[in-house]
Amino acid sequence: MDHSPNSAAARDIAYVVHPYTNLRAHEKTGPLVITGGERIWVTDDDGKRYIEGMSGLWCAGLGFSERRLADAAKRQLEQVPYMHTFAHRSTMPVIDLAERLIAMAPGKMAKVFFVNSGSEAIDTAIKLIWYYQNARGRPDKKTIISRKRGYHGITLAGGHVTQLAYAHAGFDLPMADRFRQLTTPSYYRDGLPGESEEEFVTRLVDELDQLIEAEGADRVAAFFAEPVMGAGGVITPPAGYFERVQKVLRKHDVLFVADEVICGFGRTGNMWGSETYGIRPDLVTCAKQLSSAYMPIAALMMADHMYETLADRTEELGTLGMGYTYGGHPVAAAVALRTLEIYEEDDLLAHVRSVSGRFMERLEALGDLPSVGEARGVGLIGALELVADKVTREPYPPAAKMAAKVSEACLAEGLILRPLPGDVLAICPPLIITQDEIEDLFDRLRRALAQVNRSLPAAA
Ligand SMILES: Cc1ncc(COP(=O)(O)O)c(C=O)c1O
Repeated sequence: MDHSPNSAAARDIAYVVHPYTNLRAHEKTGPLVITGGERIWVTDDDGKRYIEGMSGLWCAGLGFSERRLADAAKRQLEQVPYMHTFAHRSTMPVIDLAERLIAMAPGKMAKVFFVNSGSEAIDTAIKLIWYYQNARGRPDKKTIISRKRGYHGITLAGGHVTQLAYAHAGFDLPMADRFRQLTTPSYYRDGLPGESEEEFVTRLVDELDQLIEAEGADRVAAFFAEPVMGAGGVITPPAGYFERVQKVLRKHDVLFVADEVICGFGRTGNMWGSETYGIRPDLVTCAKQLSSAYMPIAALMMADHMYETLADRTEELGTLGMGYTYGGHPVAAAVALRTLEIYEEDDLLAHVRSVSGRFMERLEALGDLPSVGEARGVGLIGALELVADKVTREPYPPAAKMAAKVSEACLAEGLILRPLPGDVLAICPPLIITQDEIEDLFDRLRRALAQVNRSLPAAA
């Protein structure tokens, strides 16, 4: 990497604050500066090519060179570059996109509230749920439940629902006593010795039921869950989990918010993670692949019963005091609309289903390696959980930073993957990846793993 005084890296170090870095470490290493992209590939400022095996941040489903999206953005920029959705304004892309989203939504969604990011969608969901409970005359029904290792954004309210240590440490979170957390549904990591998968699910469902009973059902508003947990470690739920969770929620009149920010739009092999796992949500958050990440846009969808209650309340209060300058931005909406059309035109779901078998085969084959405790995934999202001892499942000491080491070795191999807490290495390639490219991705990953294993003292 060029660190000469006027290089891009040096200027970045001088001026840019980077999320999810140790800022001091970043000052030494600098950024990987991406200057180009083509399909699943990106190129850095030295001309080195990488398979972007994370689709950026689980989002660029159509890869990095989709001309049709650039054209859609240009057309809209020339027609109506900006208008908002406050106070009875709208634009055609917003109307068309909302109609399309509702037609394809999981469960019975009635209305869409447009925002700019997954975090805003989560924050908006929390605020509207509280507003809804007040409107129903249930002012005490406010507690929000999520799962340890769940990721639901990083803004002030969303950061409370996210249950990862780094999202709270140093930020004075939690600020409010309205958030509760449950056991992560990782049978591999959280199952007890000798416990069957079914017994594990029973324990987790009982925990939810008991939590609501202890809190009082009249105090619990909503349960937030990613169908597949992403940033917390790509955790696929155990069999029957969501079915049984929903029974408990229905019994206690607790809303289910499906956070589809990663899973939405084909990632799990169905249009929604909710379809893959039989979830019938009351609210849905989506973002990322909604526009294949070409423009920042996200959405909160809500069921009719929720909308009707909110609408009545705004008659009393005079207005829904909530919105964002760029929520429903026409250019972002036009790009999102085009993205959804392309998913249909190209039958991307059929493509994901046709290559996901091979993706899973290659992933699961890595599960035989001594350093891989579990290889898990669904559709085109997967992960390796690295362990020091495959039999006892003992993790590596955190200081060993194994997943980070493997991801560094992957970079050298021209492959971008992401290390996650718990020594998990995530893999989430653009949905357009071909079978040959899947072979290429896993060949590179296998070489990187071998290289790191060779460097371990125990293997020497
Ligand atoms: C499941 C989930 N929800 C919410 C968010 C927050 O989205 P954003 O980063 O767009 O604010 C993310 C981001 O990765 C996510 O994975």
